[in-house]
Amino acid sequence: MWEDRYASAEDYVFGKAPAAFLTENPWITAGAKTALAVADGEGRNSVHLAKAGLDVTSFDLSPTAVGRAQDLAAGAGVTLDTHVSDWDGWDWTRRFDLVVGIFIQFMGPDARARQFETLRAATKPGGRLVLHGYTPDQIELGTGGPPFVENMYTEALLRQHFGDWQIERLASYERDVQEGRGHSGRSALIDLVVRRPA
Ligand SMILES: C[S@@+](CC[C@H](N)C(=O)[O-])C[C@H]1O[C@@H](n2cnc3c(N)ncnc32)[C@H](O)[C@@H]1O
Repeated sequence: MWEDRYASAEDYVFGKAPAAFLTENPWITAGAKTALAVADGEGRNSVHLAKAGLDVTSFDLSPTAVGRAQDLAAGAGVTLDTHVSDWDGWDWTRRFDLVVGIFIQFMGPDARARQFETLRAATKPGGRLVLHGYTPDQIELGTGGPPFVENMYTEALLRQHFGDWQIERLASYERDVQEGRGHSGRSALIDLVVRRPA
């Protein structure tokens, strides 16, 4: 489905600008040298991290999206280590200073529990793990994301999975988002930044 969605689009489905969450919280890259951007789509967020000076690795299952990520990086004068990979095909033994998951709510609760475990494993001791997505209020708003309330994040859910690490930011809020045709309009967002104990 995702490959078809990207391949049938003439332009960047989620735009070329990074999620505002990244630009509004530049401190999340402090002290990091390496980053992993998971299910990174067309590269808007990984390119932003590379422009901030990080050595960025990314993957997504869509070859079209990964090709666009490479084009976006070349246009910005940065390099990305991109991979076409499904979630389960990724080498989760690799570890990074910063692990970034932005709008990755394509898994239901059971698969998501395993997804969160893989993200934790990929974060170096002392490193940061970042999630940015939608809360259940997004279902009513309907301006992006899957129409499955069980895939949405709540602060309680994220505390349940990540509360044993240092929570540096956990916030839910509404905001107008313009991220290509994929995310457009009033949105119910949630941010999580946690630091793994050193
Ligand atoms: C809503 S988009 C977000 C893309 C990007 N993170 C961004 O914020 O622009 C979700 C992305 O997840 C990717 N994806 C979905 N299922 C996946 C899977 N099982 N393994 C890897 N990537 C997947 C899709 O190809 C798509 O690019």
